[in-house]
Amino acid sequence: MVHPRSFESGQSSKLLSRSEPVLQFHLISLFPEVFKTVLESSLLGKAQKKGLVTYSLTQIRDFARDKHRTVDDTPFGGSEGMLLKPDILCDAWESVMQKVPVEETPKLKTILLSPQGRLLDQALARELAQSTHLILVCGHYEGVDERFIELCVDQEVSIGDYVLTGGELPALVLVDAVTRLVPGVVGNERSITEESLENGLLKYPQYTRPREFRDLKVPDVLLSGDHGAIGAWRQNQMLDRTEKKRPDLWQKFSLKSKSRR
Ligand SMILES: C[S@@+](CC[C@H](N)C(=O)[O-])C[C@H]1O[C@@H](n2cnc3c(N)ncnc32)[C@H](O)[C@@H]1O
Repeated sequence: MVHPRSFESGQSSKLLSRSEPVLQFHLISLFPEVFKTVLESSLLGKAQKKGLVTYSLTQIRDFARDKHRTVDDTPFGGSEGMLLKPDILCDAWESVMQKVPVEETPKLKTILLSPQGRLLDQALARELAQSTHLILVCGHYEGVDERFIELCVDQEVSIGDYVLTGGELPALVLVDAVTRLVPGVVGNERSITEESLENGLLKYPQYTRPREFRDLKVPDVLLSGDHGAIGAWRQNQMLDRTEKKRPDLWQKFSLKSKSRR
């Protein structure tokens, strides 16, 4: 990937201070209105209010060059659909890059949401949470001109083996998965480390009041007050349910345990 950074000399040399957000998301999309409600609600909204993360939205169409505000064109060689043009996408991307101080770029990543990318899982979310800036580019129609990927994109990320109409929902999924890993976003850090998939296993079953509901009782061990027994029960439940519900994860977990032994 080549970063066409024509703006470096004019950048301020501001250093990250403590009051600055830990992670800044920059979303580039043809439909930025899609993001607002989700980014302002619940934990994502709170994370922003606490100043831990920021979200900026860039409208691709603002970089169109003709009076019809064209952003796409037909693929060379003939095929269905329309592709987002590389010049427009690069301009949109550069407009975001110009706002990022040069010294913060080592921890900046440009991600294209794409069904051809690395599958998003908890390990990748953890990796991405180490960044200070994530530029998320949402494709649409038939996708994007390959040269934009070559020039500006560090990594393609997919949220699953199915094809969606645009990258907006995948971008929101990624923002959510990564934001909750930013220190301070989830109040109790333990609730993250005990989460499903954090250690390659699914989380144990959980119950709240009432103790009995429609003839179904909370397992006695959870009411026993014996923390050793509760811990052992939970560990067994994690192993059991991962084996039953997610044989793929179970296989990976077993292989890892064997190699560790
Ligand atoms: C219809 S898709 C284009 C698919 C493309 N023609 C291909 O075959 O790889 C339009 C856009 O939706 C987004 N998208 C669709 N499915 C996705 C997925 N599973 N994960 C991430 N992004 C996806 C991408 O940004 C993509 O550019």
